[in-house]
Amino acid sequence: MKKPRVAVLFGGMSSEHAVSLVSATSVIANIPRDRFDVVMIGITRDGEWRLFEGDVEKLAGSGWESDPSNRPAFIAPDSRVHGIVALSPDGRIETIRLDVVFPVLHGLNGEDGTVQGLLTLARIPFVGCGVTASAVCMDKAITKALCDTYQIPQAKWETVRVSDLKDNGKAVVERLEAHLGYPLFVKPANAGSSVGISKAADRETLYKAIETAATHDRKLVFEEAVNGREIECAVLGNEEPVVSCCGEIKPCNEFYDYNAKYLAGRTELVIPASLPKDVSERVRQTAMRVFRLLGCRGLTRMDFFALEDGTVLLNEPNTIPGFTSISMYPKLFEAGGISYGELLETLLRLAMEG
Ligand SMILES: Nc1ncnc2c1ncn2[C@@H]1O[C@H](COP(=O)(O)OP(=O)(O)O)[C@@H](O)[C@H]1O
Ligand SMILES: [Mg+2]
Repeated sequence: MKKPRVAVLFGGMSSEHAVSLVSATSVIANIPRDRFDVVMIGITRDGEWRLFEGDVEKLAGSGWESDPSNRPAFIAPDSRVHGIVALSPDGRIETIRLDVVFPVLHGLNGEDGTVQGLLTLARIPFVGCGVTASAVCMDKAITKALCDTYQIPQAKWETVRVSDLKDNGKAVVERLEAHLGYPLFVKPANAGSSVGISKAADRETLYKAIETAATHDRKLVFEEAVNGREIECAVLGNEEPVVSCCGEIKPCNEFYDYNAKYLAGRTELVIPASLPKDVSERVRQTAMRVFRLLGCRGLTRMDFFALEDGTVLLNEPNTIPGFTSISMYPKLFEAGGISYGELLETLLRLAMEG
């Protein structure tokens, strides 16, 4: 039988472009080549699409962008193409049929339903959540509002539009102080990898935090600072998903900020997390519930805070979680006996299940 052809999308117009390059390097290197043909499509920070045929090692550090193998290419929305339209080296237009796409894109313009919409129009199966779940999970305010209606326990929170802060700043800040108290977290509603997030200890740092977050989004989320352990678990599947054991993040910085995630390299992942059985079960059951309620599919990493008294609060779902071979999502399944390569194959098969 012919091997299915998978396109891995990497890069993207997102503040998490660099993170995608690292995740995609691992994904591309580990898709079993005896069972899948792989083509690579890079999207630059400016949004140019290119078919890349160079060495996968060139992804990290952005060397791929100037690779002589690059050709203009894009996924056609036309469902009859069912794949890529590319400029061939001799200047002709060619099409490359695809069986499945793995969007290894984090954050805006990739994890948020945009690329999922294109792939839906193109009728090409793809790994991960569809348009609605992707869009919902990208927006922290919408996720939180929905989870409140489903009575999923969360930290106290509020959402405010930047324009409201401009018109009515002092009153809004006083309301936030009264409702949430210090310290509190300020986040852009739509971002990831801790980009634009700060912890404010008083009014002065709150104003700075607002300024930082407002450079990323017109809508902000404010949350009480939770004093808890950061526990994550991984959900995999479509109609009958499975949930991994719990893992714990022990950040090397004050919180799990961008540096702690990607640069410092000293953050510790503890798998399985050492938790009382009832707490880890609550995390896993809540993860499964949220996956279903939000209409997730394929994969999602669910992040929580576990408090001293056994309370479990949802922090956020991540529909395209970090996917390097040392990232939490694949590590959690590895602990359950599913290797990184097997996990990739399972995800591709789940996508093609229809
Ligand atoms: N309410 C909170 N209380 C305590 N720590 C928080 C809170 N919100 C976020 N954090 C810290 O900030 C990190 C990033 O926040 P998160 O909401 O997960 O954003 P991102 O989508 O960028 O990962 C978390 O992993 C955690 O370390
Ligand atoms: Mg997070």
